[in-house]
Amino acid sequence: MTVIPVSLGDRSYDVRIAPGLLARAGDLIAPLAGKRPVAIVTDSNLGPHLATLRASLAQSGVAAEPIILPPGEASKSWSMLEQLTDTLLSLGVERDDHVIALGGGVIGDLVGFVTAILKRGCNFIQVPTTLLAQVDSSVGGKTAINARAGKNLVGAFHQPALVLIDPDVLATLPPRELRAGYAEVVKYGLIDDAGFFAWCEAQGAALLAGDASARATAIAHSVAAKARIVGADERETTGTRALLNLGHTFGHALEAETGFTDRLLHGEAVAAGMALAFAFSADQGLCADEDAARVAAHLSAVGLPDGLAAAGITASGEALVAHMRHDKKMAGGTLPFLLARGIGRTYLDKTVDLAAVADFLNRQPR
Ligand code: GLY
Repeated sequence: MTVIPVSLGDRSYDVRIAPGLLARAGDLIAPLAGKRPVAIVTDSNLGPHLATLRASLAQSGVAAEPIILPPGEASKSWSMLEQLTDTLLSLGVERDDHVIALGGGVIGDLVGFVTAILKRGCNFIQVPTTLLAQVDSSVGGKTAINARAGKNLVGAFHQPALVLIDPDVLATLPPRELRAGYAEVVKYGLIDDAGFFAWCEAQGAALLAGDASARATAIAHSVAAKARIVGADERETTGTRALLNLGHTFGHALEAETGFTDRLLHGEAVAAGMALAFAFSADQGLCADEDAARVAAHLSAVGLPDGLAAAGITASGEALVAHMRHDKKMAGGTLPFLLARGIGRTYLDKTVDLAAVADFLNRQPR
């Protein structure tokens, strides 16, 4: 088992990673639960994983109450927040109890937020079942629901008590979702680890084809990177955690343009966004053209969009920049961008001129 600590003082916790871990999760959860029952919040696509987890909890003497929600982004809503809060209260969940989030980013974000506010905060355990949730959203304590005005606009920082990652559960993940999650793996290389990007170039295709060892390596490496960054800047105040937003500002505009539908999954938008961030950096003379080309080539080689054309975006640069102006990172009329001086050399730039971004986007192939 790989154990990666997230060091945050009295909010510290471990991320435990091992193939087959779901079937052994009960032994790790029992010491936290004590003699109390746990609620498991999951979605209706995850019946087999729920059965495995319940059997393991039962073996360890932990009573479990499943709460099964509809799958999909629509569950990150005010109405589901209210419904889930009422359900947990009716089950008698206490402040020291643990609620388990078994699912992808939607379940993790929703359960994280509910447990941040339930009785002014109770515990939760992340058991992520998608690659994106395993390498990014389950670690670090960002929780949220969506509001009418946009995605993830209502939320809280609330760290889990434990994260349990079983790479074997990825075997049932649709290939498109796996690929979308892989974009976040590549992100860690592009941020500050050129050696890991080179590893992705060599092993990414094998990982996506099902190579268990490549998956385990990528998950452990990504989680270690995320733990390091979150440990340095839990609440995104110094700029370090903001590095995790590489590709997200361009990507957010593409997601907004496609109505946040499955025309473009979040990870696909991040992939195209990272390619655009590097291309823009090259365009502005900040990074070598060869680096931007290498990023686009790898994303394209694994079947991820490497720019506007591959993401199916025909909108003008001005229309895309208009979406960016609604980004929740807008501050004092400017939008901080993650740009690059090279592969593994991402930095936060608060001086980007949005007119230059629109002009750059207008020059991108459609
Ligand atoms: N997914 C970005 C962050 O956790 O900060």
